[in-house]
Amino acid sequence: MTVETEPTSINQTKLTDQRILVLDFGSQYAQLIARRVRELNVYCEIVRHNITPEQVAAHGPAGLILSGGPNSVYESGAPECDPGIFDLGIPVLGICYGMQLICNHLGGKVTSAEAREYGRATCTVSTDDSLFSGFPASSEVWMSHGDQVQQVSDCFVSLARTGTCPVAAVRHRDRPVYGLQFHPEVTHTPSGKKLLENFLREICGCDGSWQLGDFAEIAIRQIRERVGSDRVICGLSGGVDSAVVAALLYRAIGPQLSCILVDNGLLRRGEQQAVVEEFTKHFKTDLHVVDARQMFLDGLAGVTDPQEKRKRIGHMFIDCFRAEAESISGAKFLAQGTLYPDVIESGAAVDGPAATIKLHHNVGGLPEQLGFELIEPLRDLFKDEVRSLGLELGLPESLVWRHPFPGPGLAVRCLGEITHERLEVLRNADTIVISEVTGAGLYRSIGQLFAVLLPVQSVGVMGDARTYENAAVIRSVDTDDFMTADWSRLPYDLLARISTRIINEVKGINRVCYDISSKPPATIEWE
Ligand code: XMP
Repeated sequence: MTVETEPTSINQTKLTDQRILVLDFGSQYAQLIARRVRELNVYCEIVRHNITPEQVAAHGPAGLILSGGPNSVYESGAPECDPGIFDLGIPVLGICYGMQLICNHLGGKVTSAEAREYGRATCTVSTDDSLFSGFPASSEVWMSHGDQVQQVSDCFVSLARTGTCPVAAVRHRDRPVYGLQFHPEVTHTPSGKKLLENFLREICGCDGSWQLGDFAEIAIRQIRERVGSDRVICGLSGGVDSAVVAALLYRAIGPQLSCILVDNGLLRRGEQQAVVEEFTKHFKTDLHVVDARQMFLDGLAGVTDPQEKRKRIGHMFIDCFRAEAESISGAKFLAQGTLYPDVIESGAAVDGPAATIKLHHNVGGLPEQLGFELIEPLRDLFKDEVRSLGLELGLPESLVWRHPFPGPGLAVRCLGEITHERLEVLRNADTIVISEVTGAGLYRSIGQLFAVLLPVQSVGVMGDARTYENAAVIRSVDTDDFMTADWSRLPYDLLARISTRIINEVKGINRVCYDISSKPPATIEWE
């Protein structure tokens, strides 16, 4: 992994003077901290935990937040920070593991708690401090730790405690360095946002003037500067990210943009039409729709192995995309909808312990050998920010709020052999699932929702006749990051309505099941 020394790899660096750096020690919450900071209108980036003081200084941050992490500060190989960062005079807030590191470096005794403390606790503020200004004297906070700070030296002032944790918050006497044993970034700490706001405003002096709207304006200017008079190709998948990239590029370079939509026949009902309509009527882009439906059906005939399906779909997609791209003359750039979590998870932004959790499935998986220069204008944004940007650019809510959809499309939801008929059965069932949940007002609160067609037949009875037809599954999950997920507790009445409608209206299905598996150990998709 190369060590990033200059802050200029991140587009946003020049967009705002005030920024916060989150040093990632492997916490599942590092991204959440960054989001909370941005929600408070302060620009924020996640960096590796072992960033040097010189590199920190080059970023010129108004403050540093040290994230939590799964390790104990005493474990060998536990992620460390360079203690020189405490000498920069920049305000620091350590959260959980971050606080233990601070105390360990600057004079505090960290010991293992008797039992790992996980869950709600009542925090009582014991000392007046601007960090706790407007924070209730006693309130609920979320704990998740094995170690805790038992005692602090005279260099520190203890600010708060809980029933089991005598030092739940600290402040250094001479430096602007703070620590919290609990997690202010999670919603289970109801006043946590106030604490973060106090740190940003009162301690770091941030004015909270960063706006997503500034992002669009400046990103458009940067795209124009980089692209000049050249042509950019953008693959549209039907999903949110590629649509927002295309809308942004259209605003920036209009007629120099060519979009390619490969219709592989594996899209959801109406998806192709919705994208075509949006990008020809609203954004009058040069849109190339490649009708590859028959090619994909032929290429998938007889294939039932999930990995083989993915492989073939990937190859066919690249072949189609390349052929179409080559027919567009003068194209120099390829635009992709890479988001900030993808950048973090692929390890490009941080070299930290949380950097390589997910094998990122890049939509379409376009290889570098296509020979284009990459443009990734959403690299600094989180999914919810991309959605806001999409709305700001004028994309319709129905497109902006669409759930993520895998590159191999319905092929990984149509278990067994892929045929036109089976895909139609699945599409019909899927349409009912989506429309019923949307009608119940629940679509937006769900992470991902879809139907799966099983290659399993079971006996049923309809009217007086015996049936022997396929089973379908409803999959609905609640998730923020798609790395872990829980099955949605959809109301029984809603499930009943979906089941009745599918069995009555979709020929070929006589049984509907609801998937109640969480991830892990199951995955969100069935293949
Ligand atoms: P799983 O099934 O691994 O899915 O829990 C996690 C997220 O990734 C999506 N997914 C894919 N996306 N190509 C993609 O572009 C794929 O091969 C692929 N497989 C899963 C899935 O829809 C979910 O959002």
